[in-house]
Amino acid sequence: MRILVTGGLGVNGCWVTRDLLEMGHEPVVFDARPDFTLLRDVMGEFAFVEGDVASLERLDAACAEHRIERVCHLAAVYPDAADADPARGFAVNALATVYVLEAARRAGADRVVFTSSIGALSPMTDEHLEPEMRPVDETFPAYPTGSVYGAAKAASELMGIQYKRLYGIGFAALRFAAIYGLGKGAERHGSHNVIWTEMIENAIAGRPTVVPRGGDQRLDLTYARDVARSVVLACTAERFESSVFHIGSGRTYTLNDFADGVRAAIPGAEIEVGPGLDPRGLGPRGYYALDISRARRELGYEPLYDPEKAARDWAEWTERLELRRE
Ligand SMILES: NC(=O)c1ccc[n+]([C@@H]2O[C@H](COP(=O)([O-])OP(=O)(O)OC[C@H]3O[C@@H](n4cnc5c(N)ncnc54)[C@H](O)[C@@H]3O)[C@@H](O)[C@H]2O)c1
Repeated sequence: MRILVTGGLGVNGCWVTRDLLEMGHEPVVFDARPDFTLLRDVMGEFAFVEGDVASLERLDAACAEHRIERVCHLAAVYPDAADADPARGFAVNALATVYVLEAARRAGADRVVFTSSIGALSPMTDEHLEPEMRPVDETFPAYPTGSVYGAAKAASELMGIQYKRLYGIGFAALRFAAIYGLGKGAERHGSHNVIWTEMIENAIAGRPTVVPRGGDQRLDLTYARDVARSVVLACTAERFESSVFHIGSGRTYTLNDFADGVRAAIPGAEIEVGPGLDPRGLGPRGYYALDISRARRELGYEPLYDPEKAARDWAEWTERLELRRE
């Protein structure tokens, strides 16, 4: 199939592009930032369109030119950027989703997969936090009041459901828990989102990592390659009933568990983690786990990576892509 992958050069999108290529599909990557670092080894094997998803004309042209059959929509800006410029944040993270749906409809595409977030959920309630940590399923209310990012994700989900109702376009919104993956950095993704990434990158580069507190905090942490597989499954599955799916690791890891995994994968890793909760300083409501039963049942999604396996994979790809190690 010819599949438009918006944000297909990013931390998760690069694996979607790669997985689709491996399956014999034809991904057409649509991204505003022509940085091919994470797909260096497969350059020339996919079509690339440089463009802004907030332009319906550009999306229309890409879908028509490449006769797009399905869309995986991963282009977005992160919460700090969306809060800093709410109009632009909403344009890229919500209005552009409507444009993606509209361009897909006009091109005759039959399915759009949207990458949502736990940011779309209402403020979290106590039974889902430490110490109980009951996994959150899709029946949890989604009336987000905490960020422009969350409001835009919820609006996008609702508009996908409207396109499904009005035009019969297949639609899946995948709500991701916290993600770690190659290429994630403070500049684009926010400094509090990258502590796990930094732990692995430091270990590979032979640098020490010190996290002053939070070693006992549990969190649902998913490796980008598992995230990407969920996107590809939603894009290629024969059929599914639901419109919204929770995607996570299927369990929780403490920061200490995570550090142990990195030490096992990368001998000599120097990691020091202080005790207690809340390593990111976000307050207790920032840490919970998703119930992924629906994605398991309807999409056949199963997470394959724990921190140790992910860190090994990460080190291998750092070599393979000749990424800088200083
Ligand atoms: N990483 C996480 O922890 C996390 C958690 C929940 C949801 N998500 C969602 O997953 C999706 C992918 O996230 P990611 O971590 O891979 O992000 P990323 O920033 O690594 O990749 C996003 C890509 O989109 C591109 N992009 C940004 N604005 C664009 C625009 N206006 N037009 C065209 N391209 C544009 C960027 O250049 C980038 O390559 C996003 O929808 C994000 O909101 C991520």
